[in-house]
Amino acid sequence: MQLQDVNMTREQIIETAKKYMIETYERFPFVAVRAKDMYLYADDGEKYLDFYGGIAVNSAGNCNEKVVEAVKEQVGQIMHTFNYPYTIPQTLLAEAVCKNSGMDKVMFQNSGTEANEAMIKVARKYGVEKFGPERYHIITAKKSFHGRTYGAMSATGQPDNACQIGFKPVLPGFTYAEFNNLEDFKSKVTENTIAIMLEPVQGEGGVNVATKEFMQGLRKLCDEKKMLLLCDEIQTGWCRTGKTMAYMHYGIKPDAITMAKAIGGGMPIGAMACTNEVATAFNPGSHGSTYAGSPVCCAAAYAQIKELLDRDLNKNAEVVGDYFAEKLKTLPKIKEVRHLGLLVGAEFDGIPSVEIKRACIARKLLVTAIGTTTVRMVPPLIATKEDCDQAVAILKEAVESLM
Ligand SMILES: Cc1ncc(COP(=O)(O)O)c(C=O)c1O
Repeated sequence: MQLQDVNMTREQIIETAKKYMIETYERFPFVAVRAKDMYLYADDGEKYLDFYGGIAVNSAGNCNEKVVEAVKEQVGQIMHTFNYPYTIPQTLLAEAVCKNSGMDKVMFQNSGTEANEAMIKVARKYGVEKFGPERYHIITAKKSFHGRTYGAMSATGQPDNACQIGFKPVLPGFTYAEFNNLEDFKSKVTENTIAIMLEPVQGEGGVNVATKEFMQGLRKLCDEKKMLLLCDEIQTGWCRTGKTMAYMHYGIKPDAITMAKAIGGGMPIGAMACTNEVATAFNPGSHGSTYAGSPVCCAAAYAQIKELLDRDLNKNAEVVGDYFAEKLKTLPKIKEVRHLGLLVGAEFDGIPSVEIKRACIARKLLVTAIGTTTVRMVPPLIATKEDCDQAVAILKEAVESLM
């Protein structure tokens, strides 16, 4: 839909949205009408270099042709059936997810937070059925982000963040330990702990990369104490960090993982994948959802992951991510650059990240601010070194304008 189709101006769209929508986002000051590859196009024809990728979603490029074709083809065949009949896209996607993620079985969901609900539920059910009624406690990391539904929000180790304020009490059964601090995790384990759950790279918490010793230590701890290791790969999964799943950097294997964002290429889909052993905890009636595993979303996801893997965007994420990080280190007021592949956080000294974000948007570069000091960049994984040079040049101008 374009403005002329509805006979409205940019201002009218924004006014109408503000009037009728509950506002929980700081919006960009334009109406987006089209997207392609590395660019988002506004109502006035202006193009914006996309270094936020719909927040790590459009990894094979905005409106990737193969994904668009898959959606168009599927939408005219079956849009929705519920999960009673088998469908071809769902089955092909399940096989591709398991074969590429290192897991044995998968359950589809509609979003990241729902994927985490499924992972929390399967771990708790596994614990109470295998070991006893109190064995449902999960340790998660401080500064983590796992989603906004009650289970995932309770797993989120950020009690003072807006995403938790006003929603207490959270679900019982969660304790929080310092990220990258194995001793702190060890000290929080009790006889009732069934799992440790974490993001290999904390996305919303500031782009904090787990160390190898930490991840390997957690795996060993889980094995010793008969606990499950659960990885939230919603932001890190599907090539973002230079490996198909970020856990693959660490020489370990979790018992379950969650994914969403990049797997759908823009269509809403999430998934929880796990070992055969963990999967036994779920049986008919344990968990489900009307839309989860929709044929259209599955067809899109199947095309999307094929694109990511066929085009070896893992490699591009690694090479371009390293290049980008080095360039970012040359910016004025830069304090630290943290990254794994193209999940990149640039922390600045003395200038609020939200102001840098706004100054970038004014200069036609889209980035996001996380916390008060870090600018996060998660561009499509097709980004080139030239795109990064352009982003760094705009960031430089933006920062200088605020000094
Ligand atoms: C690591 C992580 N987990 C969970 C979520 C929640 O995903 P969704 O917004 O699809 O519910 C996010 C979203 O940013 C995330 O980054």
